[in-house]
Amino acid sequence: MDPRADIAKAAAALRAGELVILPTETVYGLAADAGDARAVAKVYAAKGRPAFNPLIAHVADIATARRIASFDARAETLAARVWPGPLTLVLPIADEAAVCDLARAGLDTVAVRAPAHPVARALLEAFGGPLVAPSANRSGRPSPTTLAAALEETGAAAAAALDGGPCAIGLESTVIALLDEPRLLRPGAVTRAEVEALIGPLSEAEADARRSPGRLARHYAPDLPLRLNAEAPRAGEVWLGFGPLGGTGFNLSPDGDLAEAAANLFAYLRAADRSQGAAGIAVAPIPHEGLGEAINDRLRRAAGFVG
Ligand code: TXA
Ligand code: MG
Repeated sequence: MDPRADIAKAAAALRAGELVILPTETVYGLAADAGDARAVAKVYAAKGRPAFNPLIAHVADIATARRIASFDARAETLAARVWPGPLTLVLPIADEAAVCDLARAGLDTVAVRAPAHPVARALLEAFGGPLVAPSANRSGRPSPTTLAAALEETGAAAAAALDGGPCAIGLESTVIALLDEPRLLRPGAVTRAEVEALIGPLSEAEADARRSPGRLARHYAPDLPLRLNAEAPRAGEVWLGFGPLGGTGFNLSPDGDLAEAAANLFAYLRAADRSQGAAGIAVAPIPHEGLGEAINDRLRRAAGFVG
């Protein structure tokens, strides 16, 4: 089918208050019109997500973002350098109607991001306004990085689904709050070092932790229990390796490449979870540098430890 026809159909569904599964460069999202509270309510229902967890408003470009959020110099710098791309900025809300109260969980702030995936960009342009798009998993489960995984999670709630292939990054966007001092609310695809090189040191998220569902226990979790920093699998465990640490099962990156490991993380967690007769998943240590910070964050939460 002509992809432009798919995009037009999906944009029409969004205008009618329906949900659409959309690919981004990070993970697949479940999109709705950010200004339509009834549509946003369907997103929370499809995910089984507590309504106090706010959503990200996705936009086509910086100009649209400036209309809905108050940009300061730090936001301008980050957006100019990283967008379109896997970085979300939490800023004071400027247009309360464009991103409804329910999408913001009643906060006077809004999370905005301009995604880089060409299909996401085409849909945002065709729709012509901000779209909320949480990861298309049911709440607490690993984020989908393929259309098939997204359909399995929340496909029943979507009126349309766009295929963008496997997600190139595979980990959610980095979330930075720029309300007072810059804070890292969620480590992600853009590393701490990359952000700090542009706007200086990042504080930790303590003060905002309550607001960030990515910071709840048992997030991104498969059904099987996870054992982290394992040297080798024990009897009954499926192995999720990294680099030369061997074992039969899965290897996030045999060459020890963190970008490859990030791209494989959620798909391999899902696959390991389906292993016949397994009692648990043992995961090799991942170096805590660069993208490793975000990978370890997701693994700790998948294992049920709050960071
Ligand atoms: O990569 C991504 O960001 C993906 C793709 C689909 O774009 N989306 C995604 O959305 O991960 P979601 O809803 O699963 O995660 C939203 C994150 C949460 O950690 C949430 O707490 C935070 O953004 N967030 C949203 N609005 C916020 C606000 N006003 N203040 C603080 N945190 C906020
Ligand atoms: Mg999520």
